[in-house]
Amino acid sequence: MRLDKFLADMGKGSRSQVKEAGKKGRIYVNGQVEKILKRKIDPNIDQVTLDGEPVQYRKWEYFLLNKPKGVVSATEDKRYKTVVDLLGKDGRRDLFPVGRLDLDTEGLLLLTNDGDMAHRLLSPKKHVDKTYYARVSGRLPKDAVQIMAQGMELEDKTRVMPGRLEIAAQGQEEAEIYLTIQEGKFHQVKRMFQVLGCRVEYLKRVSFGPLALEEDLLPGQYRRLTEGEIESLRENAP
Ligand code: URA
Repeated sequence: MRLDKFLADMGKGSRSQVKEAGKKGRIYVNGQVEKILKRKIDPNIDQVTLDGEPVQYRKWEYFLLNKPKGVVSATEDKRYKTVVDLLGKDGRRDLFPVGRLDLDTEGLLLLTNDGDMAHRLLSPKKHVDKTYYARVSGRLPKDAVQIMAQGMELEDKTRVMPGRLEIAAQGQEEAEIYLTIQEGKFHQVKRMFQVLGCRVEYLKRVSFGPLALEEDLLPGQYRRLTEGEIESLRENAP
């Protein structure tokens, strides 16, 4: 692999920024300064440093982000910050979000460069559970749990698969709920509650397959998945 591509792929800047760093003598390969960025390296064998910091090669990356409101689930956007922007120096160019959360939705979002894995996790055929916590306004029908469990037709006639509804707290005109679904249609949770005559006021994804959002990962924070977590994702969506 070319040295400039390696460094750019690992999120160390654009190819021209990396070239500039090379000219300034900031890049070393196996302890020797390297100014020729076209040269090939073997990322599994050669030791590359930038400004004295080792650049570790990772073919596949998996991050768990607690997406805050006001950030788009995309790789580029003209108006809003993107979820990839939140990864700062870890935000290498080939990362993308596994599915989307709405601009005003918070919670667990995976980011990876593993297209196969992303595809499997999102396929309704693989039945990977996605659980959302919501605060809804309006009066929930008495048989809300059964209605969700049957699957339903949304207002535009789109059919959705059954969802598992758990009512955590209920007042006259509002409720706190958990809804588990296996699809990710556009505004799906909001539209399912619309069918029930309610409005989602706050929405947060709290789990995705075997992964749950931990309390101490604040909105905007992220972490790498552990090897064990990556393995259990694979097992969930073989
Ligand atoms: N369902 C929604 O309505 N919005 C989301 O962001 C995710 C699921």
